[in-house]
Amino acid sequence: MHQLTARIVAKEEVSQDIFRITLFAPAVAREAQPGQFVHLYCGDHQSYILRRPFSVHRLVGGDAFDVLVRVVGEGTRWLAGRRPKDSVDLIGPLGRGFNVDGQFSRALLVAGGMGIAPMVFLAGKIAENKVKVYTVMGAAGRAQLLDFMDLKRLTRRIAVATDDGSQGYKGLVTDILSKEIEETQPERIFACGPAAMLRSVAGISRRHGVPCEVSLEARMACGVGACLGCAVQARDAYLKVCSDGPVFTTDELGW
Ligand SMILES: Cc1cc2nc3c(=O)[nH]c(=O)nc-3n(C[C@H](O)[C@H](O)[C@H](O)COP(=O)(O)OP(=O)(O)OC[C@H]3O[C@@H](n4cnc5c(N)ncnc54)[C@H](O)[C@@H]3O)c2cc1C
Ligand code: FES
Repeated sequence: MHQLTARIVAKEEVSQDIFRITLFAPAVAREAQPGQFVHLYCGDHQSYILRRPFSVHRLVGGDAFDVLVRVVGEGTRWLAGRRPKDSVDLIGPLGRGFNVDGQFSRALLVAGGMGIAPMVFLAGKIAENKVKVYTVMGAAGRAQLLDFMDLKRLTRRIAVATDDGSQGYKGLVTDILSKEIEETQPERIFACGPAAMLRSVAGISRRHGVPCEVSLEARMACGVGACLGCAVQARDAYLKVCSDGPVFTTDELGW
Protein backbone atom coordinates (compact mmCIF):
# COMPACT_ATOMS: atom_id res chain seq x y z
CA MET A 1 0.00 0.00 0.00
CA HIS A 2 1.33 3.42 -0.95
CA GLN A 3 0.38 7.00 -0.30
CA LEU A 4 1.50 9.16 -3.18
CA THR A 5 0.62 11.96 -5.54
CA ALA A 6 -0.54 10.54 -8.86
CA ARG A 7 -0.43 12.60 -12.04
CA ILE A 8 -3.46 12.55 -14.31
CA VAL A 9 -2.25 11.66 -17.80
CA ALA A 10 -5.61 11.42 -19.59
CA LYS A 11 -9.28 12.05 -19.02
CA GLU A 12 -12.20 11.19 -21.27
CA GLU A 13 -15.97 11.47 -20.82
CA VAL A 14 -17.12 7.97 -21.82
CA SER A 15 -20.83 8.52 -21.20
CA GLN A 16 -22.91 11.27 -19.67
CA ASP A 17 -21.36 12.11 -16.28
CA ILE A 18 -19.00 9.12 -16.44
CA PHE A 19 -15.29 9.78 -16.88
CA ARG A 20 -12.30 7.54 -17.45
CA ILE A 21 -9.25 9.02 -15.73
CA THR A 22 -5.75 7.65 -16.24
CA LEU A 23 -3.44 8.00 -13.25
CA PHE A 24 0.34 7.67 -13.48
CA ALA A 25 1.38 5.76 -10.34
CA PRO A 26 3.86 2.97 -11.15
CA ALA A 27 4.02 1.55 -7.62
CA VAL A 28 0.24 1.14 -7.51
CA ALA A 29 -0.11 -0.15 -11.07
CA ARG A 30 2.49 -2.86 -10.42
CA GLU A 31 0.85 -4.13 -7.22
CA ALA A 32 -2.86 -3.78 -7.93
CA GLN A 33 -5.05 -6.88 -8.20
CA PRO A 34 -8.52 -7.01 -9.78
CA GLY A 35 -11.17 -5.91 -7.30
CA GLN A 36 -8.82 -3.72 -5.27
CA PHE A 37 -9.44 -0.01 -5.01
CA VAL A 38 -7.65 3.29 -4.56
CA HIS A 39 -8.73 5.90 -2.04
CA LEU A 40 -8.56 9.35 -3.63
CA TYR A 41 -8.55 12.69 -1.93
CA CYS A 42 -11.27 14.50 -3.87
CA GLY A 43 -10.86 18.17 -3.14
CA ASP A 44 -8.65 20.82 -1.79
CA HIS A 45 -10.50 22.31 1.14
CA GLN A 46 -11.93 21.12 4.42
CA SER A 47 -15.38 20.02 3.25
CA TYR A 48 -13.75 17.17 1.30
CA ILE A 49 -11.74 15.81 4.18
CA LEU A 50 -12.67 12.19 3.44
CA ARG A 51 -11.17 10.28 0.57
CA ARG A 52 -13.39 8.49 -1.95
CA PRO A 53 -12.89 4.84 -3.07
CA PHE A 54 -12.64 3.85 -6.76
CA SER A 55 -11.95 0.42 -8.23
CA VAL A 56 -8.82 -0.06 -10.28
CA HIS A 57 -10.53 -0.26 -13.64
CA ARG A 58 -7.71 -1.46 -15.89
CA LEU A 59 -3.95 -1.21 -16.18
CA VAL A 60 -2.45 1.11 -18.80
CA GLY A 61 1.03 -0.13 -19.72
CA GLY A 62 3.09 -0.99 -16.65
CA ASP A 63 3.02 2.37 -14.87
CA ALA A 64 -0.51 3.72 -14.99
CA PHE A 65 -4.09 2.63 -14.48
CA ASP A 66 -7.59 3.89 -15.19
CA VAL A 67 -10.43 4.63 -12.83
CA LEU A 68 -14.02 5.06 -14.04
CA VAL A 69 -15.77 7.85 -12.19
CA ARG A 70 -19.51 8.45 -12.19
CA VAL A 71 -20.39 11.91 -10.90
CA VAL A 72 -22.84 11.53 -8.00
CA GLY A 73 -21.80 14.25 -5.56
CA GLU A 74 -19.24 16.89 -4.70
CA GLY A 75 -16.20 14.63 -4.48
CA THR A 76 -16.75 12.91 -7.80
CA ARG A 77 -17.63 16.27 -9.41
CA TRP A 78 -14.31 17.67 -8.19
CA LEU A 79 -12.44 14.63 -9.54
CA ALA A 80 -14.20 14.77 -12.90
CA GLY A 81 -13.15 18.42 -13.15
CA ARG A 82 -9.42 17.58 -13.01
CA ARG A 83 -7.40 17.79 -16.18
CA PRO A 84 -4.32 16.06 -17.56
CA LYS A 85 -1.19 17.19 -15.67
CA ASP A 86 -3.21 17.81 -12.49
CA SER A 87 -2.35 15.66 -9.47
CA VAL A 88 -4.44 13.59 -7.07
CA ASP A 89 -3.44 12.38 -3.63
CA LEU A 90 -3.94 8.62 -3.50
CA ILE A 91 -3.69 5.67 -1.11
CA GLY A 92 -3.62 2.22 -2.65
CA PRO A 93 -3.96 -0.39 -3.79
CA LEU A 94 -6.33 -1.26 -0.95
CA GLY A 95 -8.56 -4.13 0.09
CA ARG A 96 -8.92 -7.73 -0.89
CA GLY A 97 -9.74 -8.30 -4.55
CA PHE A 98 -11.24 -11.24 -6.42
CA ASN A 99 -9.62 -14.63 -5.87
CA VAL A 100 -8.11 -15.21 -9.30
CA ASP A 101 -5.77 -17.99 -8.20
CA GLY A 102 -8.31 -20.72 -7.53
CA GLN A 103 -8.56 -23.88 -9.59
CA PHE A 104 -11.22 -23.13 -12.16
CA SER A 105 -11.35 -23.18 -15.93
CA ARG A 106 -14.63 -21.36 -16.64
CA ALA A 107 -15.79 -18.13 -15.02
CA LEU A 108 -18.83 -15.93 -15.44
CA LEU A 109 -18.54 -12.20 -14.71
CA VAL A 110 -21.72 -10.34 -13.80
CA ALA A 111 -21.67 -6.53 -13.93
CA GLY A 112 -24.49 -4.08 -13.32
CA GLY A 113 -24.12 -0.36 -14.05
CA MET A 114 -20.88 1.02 -12.57
CA GLY A 115 -20.17 -2.53 -11.40
CA ILE A 116 -18.38 -2.78 -14.72
CA ALA A 117 -15.48 -0.81 -13.15
CA PRO A 118 -13.34 -3.74 -11.91
CA MET A 119 -14.40 -6.22 -14.59
CA VAL A 120 -12.06 -5.37 -17.49
CA PHE A 121 -9.03 -5.81 -15.23
CA LEU A 122 -10.52 -9.03 -13.83
CA ALA A 123 -11.39 -10.46 -17.26
CA GLY A 124 -7.85 -9.77 -18.54
CA LYS A 125 -6.22 -11.33 -15.50
CA ILE A 126 -8.18 -14.57 -15.48
CA ALA A 127 -8.00 -14.92 -19.27
CA GLU A 128 -4.17 -14.90 -18.84
CA ASN A 129 -4.58 -18.13 -16.84
CA LYS A 130 -6.34 -19.75 -19.80
CA VAL A 131 -9.69 -19.54 -18.01
CA LYS A 132 -12.69 -19.34 -20.32
CA VAL A 133 -14.42 -16.11 -19.39
CA TYR A 134 -18.08 -15.26 -20.05
CA THR A 135 -19.83 -12.02 -19.17
CA VAL A 136 -23.33 -10.85 -18.38
CA MET A 137 -23.63 -7.09 -18.20
CA GLY A 138 -26.51 -4.76 -17.58
CA ALA A 139 -27.09 -1.04 -17.73
CA ALA A 140 -29.86 1.51 -18.01
CA GLY A 141 -29.43 1.71 -21.78
CA ARG A 142 -27.02 1.29 -24.66
CA ALA A 143 -25.15 4.53 -23.86
CA GLN A 144 -24.35 3.28 -20.34
CA LEU A 145 -22.92 -0.06 -21.56
CA LEU A 146 -19.34 0.87 -20.80
CA ASP A 147 -16.37 -1.18 -22.04
CA PHE A 148 -18.55 -3.42 -24.13
CA MET A 149 -15.87 -3.77 -26.83
CA ASP A 150 -13.07 -4.44 -24.31
CA LEU A 151 -15.11 -7.16 -22.64
CA LYS A 152 -16.14 -8.58 -25.97
CA ARG A 153 -12.46 -8.96 -26.86
CA LEU A 154 -11.53 -10.52 -23.52
CA THR A 155 -14.46 -12.86 -23.04
CA ARG A 156 -15.85 -15.74 -25.10
CA ARG A 157 -19.43 -14.56 -24.97
CA ILE A 158 -21.18 -11.52 -23.67
CA ALA A 159 -24.88 -11.30 -22.80
CA VAL A 160 -26.45 -7.89 -22.33
CA ALA A 161 -29.57 -6.66 -20.55
CA THR A 162 -30.72 -3.05 -20.61
CA ASP A 163 -33.56 -1.49 -18.63
CA ASP A 164 -34.95 0.22 -21.74
CA GLY A 165 -34.25 -2.62 -24.18
CA SER A 166 -31.99 -0.42 -26.36
CA GLN A 167 -29.51 -3.31 -26.50
CA GLY A 168 -29.91 -6.99 -25.70
CA TYR A 169 -32.61 -8.32 -23.40
CA LYS A 170 -35.07 -5.73 -22.01
CA GLY A 171 -34.89 -6.15 -18.26
CA LEU A 172 -32.44 -6.99 -15.51
CA VAL A 173 -29.15 -8.86 -15.65
CA THR A 174 -30.56 -11.27 -13.10
CA ASP A 175 -33.45 -12.15 -15.46
CA ILE A 176 -30.98 -13.77 -17.88
CA LEU A 177 -28.44 -15.09 -15.40
CA SER A 178 -29.85 -18.60 -14.92
CA LYS A 179 -29.89 -19.21 -18.66
CA GLU A 180 -26.31 -17.96 -19.00
CA ILE A 181 -25.17 -20.22 -16.16
CA GLU A 182 -26.85 -23.21 -17.79
CA GLU A 183 -25.25 -22.45 -21.17
CA THR A 184 -21.73 -21.53 -20.01
CA GLN A 185 -21.39 -23.92 -17.02
CA PRO A 186 -19.09 -21.64 -14.95
CA GLU A 187 -17.12 -22.93 -11.98
CA ARG A 188 -16.93 -19.41 -10.46
CA ILE A 189 -19.14 -16.35 -10.62
CA PHE A 190 -17.69 -12.88 -9.94
CA ALA A 191 -20.14 -10.01 -9.54
CA CYS A 192 -20.11 -6.27 -9.00
CA GLY A 193 -23.05 -3.88 -9.05
CA PRO A 194 -25.89 -2.54 -6.92
CA ALA A 195 -26.54 -4.31 -3.61
CA ALA A 196 -29.94 -5.67 -4.66
CA MET A 197 -28.43 -7.15 -7.82
CA LEU A 198 -25.63 -8.80 -5.83
CA ARG A 199 -28.10 -10.39 -3.42
CA SER A 200 -30.05 -11.78 -6.34
CA VAL A 201 -26.88 -13.02 -8.09
CA ALA A 202 -25.87 -14.74 -4.84
CA GLY A 203 -29.21 -16.57 -4.63
CA ILE A 204 -29.15 -17.66 -8.27
CA SER A 205 -25.51 -18.84 -7.99
CA ARG A 206 -26.37 -20.84 -4.89
CA ARG A 207 -29.33 -22.52 -6.61
CA HIS A 208 -26.97 -23.56 -9.43
CA GLY A 209 -24.27 -24.68 -6.96
CA VAL A 210 -21.65 -22.26 -8.31
CA PRO A 211 -19.29 -20.50 -5.83
CA CYS A 212 -19.76 -16.74 -6.07
CA GLU A 213 -17.72 -13.68 -5.07
CA VAL A 214 -19.28 -10.22 -4.87
CA SER A 215 -17.68 -6.78 -4.62
CA LEU A 216 -19.58 -4.66 -2.09
CA GLU A 217 -19.93 -0.90 -1.86
CA ALA A 218 -20.04 0.97 1.43
CA ARG A 219 -19.47 4.53 2.54
CA MET A 220 -15.85 4.67 3.66
CA ALA A 221 -13.80 6.91 5.89
CA CYS A 222 -10.26 5.66 6.61
CA GLY A 223 -10.24 2.96 3.92
CA VAL A 224 -7.66 0.90 5.83
CA GLY A 225 -9.62 -0.95 8.51
CA ALA A 226 -9.12 1.54 11.35
CA CYS A 227 -12.47 3.30 11.86
CA LEU A 228 -15.17 0.58 11.42
CA GLY A 229 -17.10 3.07 9.28
CA CYS A 230 -17.68 0.53 6.51
CA ALA A 231 -18.65 -2.52 8.61
CA VAL A 232 -21.29 -4.89 7.21
CA GLN A 233 -23.08 -7.71 8.98
CA ALA A 234 -21.77 -11.02 7.62
CA ARG A 235 -22.57 -14.62 8.50
CA ASP A 236 -20.54 -14.81 11.74
CA ALA A 237 -19.41 -11.26 12.50
CA TYR A 238 -19.18 -7.73 11.21
CA LEU A 239 -16.66 -7.40 8.38
CA LYS A 240 -14.96 -4.27 7.12
CA VAL A 241 -15.62 -3.64 3.44
CA CYS A 242 -12.38 -1.68 3.04
CA SER A 243 -9.95 -4.22 4.47
CA ASP A 244 -11.78 -7.59 4.73
CA GLY A 245 -13.26 -6.85 1.27
CA PRO A 246 -14.51 -5.18 -0.82
CA VAL A 247 -14.72 -8.66 -2.41
CA PHE A 248 -16.36 -11.37 -0.30
CA THR A 249 -17.52 -14.88 -1.00
CA THR A 250 -21.28 -15.13 -0.62
CA ASP A 251 -20.64 -17.86 1.98
CA GLU A 252 -18.71 -15.38 4.15
CA LEU A 253 -21.62 -12.97 3.93
CA GLY A 254 -24.17 -15.66 4.70
CA TRP A 255 -26.09 -14.78 1.52
C1 LIG B 1 -14.80 -0.40 -3.00
C2 LIG B 1 -15.53 0.69 -3.78
C3 LIG B 1 -15.23 0.88 -5.11
C4 LIG B 1 -15.89 1.88 -5.83
N1 LIG B 1 -15.56 2.04 -7.14
C5 LIG B 1 -16.15 3.02 -7.84
C6 LIG B 1 -15.77 3.23 -9.20
O1 LIG B 1 -14.93 2.51 -9.76
N2 LIG B 1 -16.37 4.25 -9.86
C7 LIG B 1 -17.31 5.06 -9.26
O2 LIG B 1 -17.82 5.98 -9.91
N3 LIG B 1 -17.68 4.88 -7.98
C8 LIG B 1 -17.11 3.90 -7.26
N4 LIG B 1 -17.46 3.72 -5.95
C9 LIG B 1 -18.44 4.64 -5.36
C10 LIG B 1 -17.76 5.99 -5.07
O3 LIG B 1 -16.79 5.81 -4.08
C11 LIG B 1 -18.81 7.01 -4.60
O4 LIG B 1 -19.69 7.27 -5.67
C12 LIG B 1 -18.13 8.29 -4.16
O5 LIG B 1 -17.48 8.08 -2.93
C13 LIG B 1 -19.15 9.41 -4.02
O6 LIG B 1 -18.48 10.57 -3.59
P1 LIG B 1 -19.14 11.99 -3.77
O7 LIG B 1 -18.41 12.93 -2.86
O8 LIG B 1 -19.21 12.38 -5.22
O9 LIG B 1 -20.63 11.79 -3.30
P2 LIG B 1 -21.26 12.09 -1.88
O10 LIG B 1 -21.51 13.56 -1.81
O11 LIG B 1 -20.45 11.45 -0.82
O12 LIG B 1 -22.62 11.31 -2.06
C14 LIG B 1 -23.51 11.62 -3.14
C15 LIG B 1 -24.56 10.55 -3.26
O13 LIG B 1 -23.97 9.29 -3.62
C16 LIG B 1 -24.24 8.31 -2.62
N5 LIG B 1 -23.01 7.54 -2.40
C17 LIG B 1 -21.80 8.01 -2.05
N6 LIG B 1 -20.90 7.02 -1.92
C18 LIG B 1 -21.57 5.88 -2.17
C19 LIG B 1 -21.20 4.53 -2.20
N7 LIG B 1 -19.97 4.10 -1.93
N8 LIG B 1 -22.14 3.64 -2.50
C20 LIG B 1 -23.38 4.01 -2.76
N9 LIG B 1 -23.80 5.30 -2.77
C21 LIG B 1 -22.91 6.22 -2.47
C22 LIG B 1 -24.62 9.10 -1.38
O14 LIG B 1 -25.52 8.39 -0.55
C23 LIG B 1 -25.31 10.31 -1.95
O15 LIG B 1 -26.64 10.03 -2.29
C24 LIG B 1 -16.86 2.71 -5.20
C25 LIG B 1 -17.17 2.51 -3.86
C26 LIG B 1 -16.53 1.51 -3.16
C27 LIG B 1 -16.86 1.29 -1.72
S1 FES C 1 -13.47 2.78 6.16
FE1 FES C 1 -12.51 2.77 8.12
S2 FES C 1 -12.64 0.66 8.67
FE2 FES C 1 -13.36 0.69 6.62
